Amino acid sequence: MYICLCHAITEKDIQEASMDKGPAQEVLGRLGVGKDCGACLSQAIKTYLKQKGPLLQKGHARVFPAKQR
Ligand code: FES
Repeated sequence: MYICLCHAITEKDIQEASMDKGPAQEVLGRLGVGKDCGACLSQAIKTYLKQKGPLLQKGHARVFPAKQR
C-alpha cells in the first residue's frame, strides 16, 4: 500500500527503513516522505512507530531527536 503518493513510498519501504538507526524525522526524511504536500506524514509516522515499537520499548531507538539546550 502506498503511504506517500508524491514519492511512491510504500508501507513496506517505511517498515524496512525503520530498521535504520536515527530518529523518525531523519529516517523518514531520507525516504522523502512528506517533502511535498505532507498529506502522508501522519500515516508515515504511525507506520514507523508500529514497526519500531518493540525496539523503542527496549530503548534501542529514539523517535525524535533530543532537544539541544
Ligand atoms: S503524499 Fe507524501 S509528500 Fe505528498
